[in-house]
This record gives sequence, structure tokens and C-alpha cells, in this order.
Amino acid sequence: MRIFLDTADSEEIRQAVRWGVCDGVTTNPSLFAKVSDRAGSYKERVQEIAAIVDGPISAECVSRGADELVAEAREIASWHPNVVVKIPIDGAGLEAISRVSGEGIRVNTTLIFSTNQALLAASAGAAYVSPFIGRLDDIGQDGVSLVAEIVEMLDRYHSPAQVIAASVRHVGHVSACAAVGAHIATLPFKVLQAMLQHPLTDKGIASFLADWDRAQAQRRERAESAAGR
Ligand code: E4P
Repeated sequence: MRIFLDTADSEEIRQAVRWGVCDGVTTNPSLFAKVSDRAGSYKERVQEIAAIVDGPISAECVSRGADELVAEAREIASWHPNVVVKIPIDGAGLEAISRVSGEGIRVNTTLIFSTNQALLAASAGAAYVSPFIGRLDDIGQDGVSLVAEIVEMLDRYHSPAQVIAASVRHVGHVSACAAVGAHIATLPFKVLQAMLQHPLTDKGIASFLADWDRAQAQRRERAESAAGR
């Protein structure tokens, strides 16, 4: 499973790239709003991200009608060759996905909450479908099960569309999505950081370092006594 970062924060992306675990980035208007106090338009921010990470960068349309979505998708796609256009799933969105996919623009269909929505998006030509698992869990449904169903459905029909598990809230979501075969999970930076953590790792590092220091001290003592000091 490839790992994308779900953020518009360049510093978080730089750190994940340094760790060697950032295969792409997803953004949305809410994530951009979080960093909009810093300089730059959405376009500039997306281009800055594209300069940091060599992989797909999703940028979301905010228009509503099909014609308006198509025009906006063409504009967003022109920002950088790695840009993937995010379009929400509804009637206008589906028409726009079909039209721009036919022009070779890669689309990430967002706000997917059912297998049928994913089926329609993939049939219209979307390169990616993004089921939102955390928001489904929030209303008492099982987001990871939806990811599993969509992966199985796309696989059964040999669809080229890839599943991006989105709205990931915790590390359990990540391992569960990997277990059901999600192609990609897009993670908030804090979830990526949490994946690194384990108390036994911290305890193990501390005890290895303490043992190393003790062994060095013993070697020094032996050397000093051999030298007759
Ligand atoms: C990514 O493509 C989505 O926009 C994002 O994961 C949504 O996450 P949220 O439900 O935490 O806002």
C-alpha cells in the first residue's frame, strides 16, 4: 500500500519525504484553509508541494455545474504534470469526470461513501476513488469494510481505478486498510508520526544505549588498570 500525506502543510510533506515514505499528497479546501494564513494562492501552494514530492498531488475543484467543473479541472490540471484533479461524486461531478478523463486528465473522485458511487466513478473513467472511512465511522458505519468492498469490486472487474483510503483518523485504520488491499492510504501527518511510535521501541533504545555506555566505561576501567594507573 502506498502512503500519501493528507495535508497542505509543506513542512509536514518535507519531513515525510525525508523519511522516504511520501508517495503523493492529497489536499482539499479545508486543508488549504488551515494554511491559508501563510503566503500564496491554492495554485502556488499546490505547485510548491509538487516541487517537494515526486508523485500525484490531488487538488480539489470547488465549482458546482458540469461545465464549470470541466473548466476548473482543466485549469487545475495545467498547474503541474503531477496534479490530479479532485471532483466530488454527484451528477455534475460524474459528467465532469467522464469528460475530463477522456482528455487524459487524472481524476480523484472524492466524498465516496458507497460501493455504488465508486463503481460509477470508475466507470466514468476516474483514476482514483476516495472512500472516507473516518466520516463513516463517525455515523456508526464501518469505513474499512467499505474500502474492502470497493477494492474487491474493482479487482473483480479488472478496473484500473485505484482506491485511496481517505478520512483516516488513527493507526488502526492504516493497518486495516493495508490488510484489505487498499492501493493507497492518505494520512494526516499526526497519524504518520503515530505509526512510528511504540513504547517498547523507546524502552529498547534506552536500554541498548545504557548497556553501551556501561560497556564503554568498563573498557576504559580495564585499559586504565592495565596501564597501571
Ligand atoms: C482526502 O482526500 C480527504 O479530503 C480527507 O482525507 C478528508 O478527511 P477528513 O474526513 O478528516 O476531513
